[in-house]
Amino acid sequence: MTGVKVERLLINYKTLEKFKRFKEYGNQELSMMEDLQNNIVENNSESPFYGIYFGNNLIARMSLYRVDAKYDQYFQPPQDYLTLWKLEVLPDYQGQGYGKAMVEFAKSFQLPIKTNPRINSHGFWEKMGFQKAHYEMERDLGENPLIWLPDGVEEKSQGSEQETTRD
Ligand SMILES: CC(C)(COP(=O)(O)OP(=O)(O)OC[C@H]1O[C@@H](n2cnc3c(N)ncnc32)[C@H](O)[C@@H]1OP(=O)(O)O)[C@@H](O)C(=O)NCCC(=O)NCCS
Repeated sequence: MTGVKVERLLINYKTLEKFKRFKEYGNQELSMMEDLQNNIVENNSESPFYGIYFGNNLIARMSLYRVDAKYDQYFQPPQDYLTLWKLEVLPDYQGQGYGKAMVEFAKSFQLPIKTNPRINSHGFWEKMGFQKAHYEMERDLGENPLIWLPDGVEEKSQGSEQETTRD
């Protein structure tokens, strides 16, 4: 899809108002609101959210957070990776390539990506080249993570101990 701009969203009352139109609205958004009200963050601070505007409407959004290599339990060699969650395209705009544009934006950082898919979205993630991570009980309790591997990166082999960096 050409001409679609994925942009970093700012934390302000306007953005938080637009988030209310998305289904996955919860603790993360509420805590941003509290932080704003208590002046813990400034109006127009950068958020971990990215989105696509259609005119004045925010029609797609996702949260993208960089995890430090020392916490990496998924990839080989251990490295910084992105956690992607809350990807959602508003119903009237689904099926027009916006979800794909968001995922391609996330891939453009050339870091491995981990996501925890919502029910019924597996087909979409498969099309985007994501694969199921081997299930590890202690690590994945309650999650069914999907991962995307850029060239040269492999999934951590099952049961292998990884050296973690000590501070
Ligand atoms: C899942 C979601 C993020 C996908 O975004 P989208 O903008 O609708 O998807 P796109 O138009 O970018 O689709 C990209 C490709 O994935 C395919 N696709 C999209 N959703 C799919 C699904 N649920 N299952 C299988 N394939 C899917 C599209 O057909 C398209 O394929 P193509 O490139 O061969 O044409 C979006 O639909 C959404 O937010 N849904 C919210 C509710 C939800 O999770 N629904 C799951 C489906 S019921």
